[in-house]
Amino acid sequence: MTNEAERRPGETSITLPDAYDAGLYFIGRIRTPWARRKDCPRNGLQSDETCTIEVDPPFAAALQNVEGATHLIVLYWMDKAARDLVLQQPRHAEGSRGTFSLRSPARPNPVALSVVELRRRDGHRLVVHGLDCLDGTPLLDIKPYFASTDSRPEARVDRADLKAEPQDP
Ligand SMILES: C[S@@+](CC[C@H](N)C(=O)[O-])C[C@H]1O[C@@H](n2cnc3c(N)ncnc32)[C@H](O)[C@@H]1O
Repeated sequence: MTNEAERRPGETSITLPDAYDAGLYFIGRIRTPWARRKDCPRNGLQSDETCTIEVDPPFAAALQNVEGATHLIVLYWMDKAARDLVLQQPRHAEGSRGTFSLRSPARPNPVALSVVELRRRDGHRLVVHGLDCLDGTPLLDIKPYFASTDSRPEARVDRADLKAEPQDP
């Protein structure tokens, strides 16, 4: 839930449904240098730091062959994010924007994704570059990144309403 005191003018929250529709397993944790949200990069390319993805032992066998990929898609759970915001006021935008038009961690299902470069695997640990989350953030899934099918070089996002500072995710 959003703390009312933290809500910015123009932001709108909803009452969330009473029950969940699905369950998830946290399959590990992400180890990063960042203990506070304000210290995290806004996206994984804004930092040179390497981070470690620690996969829990029951799931470690699923890492077999993962070294075959230079880059991975990592899905993780933004456990400190509000879940009830449908309109948000990004710091550098003129007006509020719909949650699904943003890469903000605040969303009904706070699933985050990053494409990371795999530097090496040490057993059940993956050392990667390209993450932006708090230390201890729960890990949901890992998939190989296929440039041939995942890359869309022609993709654009209209930034006409943004103030001077760029707002890449
Ligand atoms: C803009 S989001 C982008 C996340 C992901 N790369 C994506 O596009 O889905 C990254 C920001 O989320 C915030 N954040 C990081 N870890 C978090 C966590 N565990 N819970 C809530 N917010 C978090 C930090 O402020 C960080 O700069």
